[in-house]
Amino acid sequence: MNELDRIRAEYARRAADPRLQARYHFSRPDVQFIIQTRERTVLRQLRRAGLEPLDRFDILEVGCGEGGVMLDLLRWGADPTRLHGCDLLPDRIAQARRRLPSTTTLTVADGGDLPYPSGRFDLVLQFTVFTSVLDPHLRQRMAHEMWRVLRPGGVVLWYDFRFQGPGNPGVRAIHLREACQLFPHGQHTHRRVTLAPPIVRRLARWSWLGCELLAALPCLCTHDLILIRKGTSQVPGDSDVPGI
Ligand SMILES: C[S@@+](CC[C@H](N)C(=O)[O-])C[C@H]1O[C@@H](n2cnc3c(N)ncnc32)[C@H](O)[C@@H]1O
Repeated sequence: MNELDRIRAEYARRAADPRLQARYHFSRPDVQFIIQTRERTVLRQLRRAGLEPLDRFDILEVGCGEGGVMLDLLRWGADPTRLHGCDLLPDRIAQARRRLPSTTTLTVADGGDLPYPSGRFDLVLQFTVFTSVLDPHLRQRMAHEMWRVLRPGGVVLWYDFRFQGPGNPGVRAIHLREACQLFPHGQHTHRRVTLAPPIVRRLARWSWLGCELLAALPCLCTHDLILIRKGTSQVPGDSDVPGI
């Protein structure tokens, strides 16, 4: 089985597992905590990178799944006509289509072979996609493609986990060093985020404050948020946008 077929089979297995589906439902305090703390850090990093307001930028999410992060991007101010998402799985793109405004562009595509011209986007995101890809060659191709479609002066935003949880052979953690090596020509800024989900699952329903305090300790955080700039003096987006 090639890697793309393996990924398709793995996601079909997950979709058929109701326990797994319930684990990620937004009604759960642990899910709310993880998403809300991530949101704060992402917004802070975007602001520091000069990517505010978002509606001045062409944005692509690679591996957008059912569109949850794209909905966040719209809430944060992205222009739907400049917001694009792609995913390997047609059923996930169909679900994203139902959730997102018709002016957003959604495409079924492999991240290792993106159907966009070079330099098309100011901001290219990947949120927990690379850890679904076990084949190092496909990871490499996907990073190469994300970099290719990024405009000079643009930014890749990476969010993924660095610790391997037990009992999930369908994913593989990516250490910060490997993530940075995938984009060797960028300037990297890094934050540790997301209090370890096994802790949040136990604690969030009893003490939000306890979660907040523990989340302030980088050693207990399992994910990396990395901002990677395509270093050039060229200004991304509209001509009046300050350099990032
Ligand atoms: C864990 S989900 C994350 C979805 C979304 N980024 C989010 O955070 O809600 C990972 C997604 O990556 C997609 N994916 C995995 N390998 C891919 C590839 N080679 N090309 C495009 N999408 C891929 C999967 O289909 C899945 O929808």
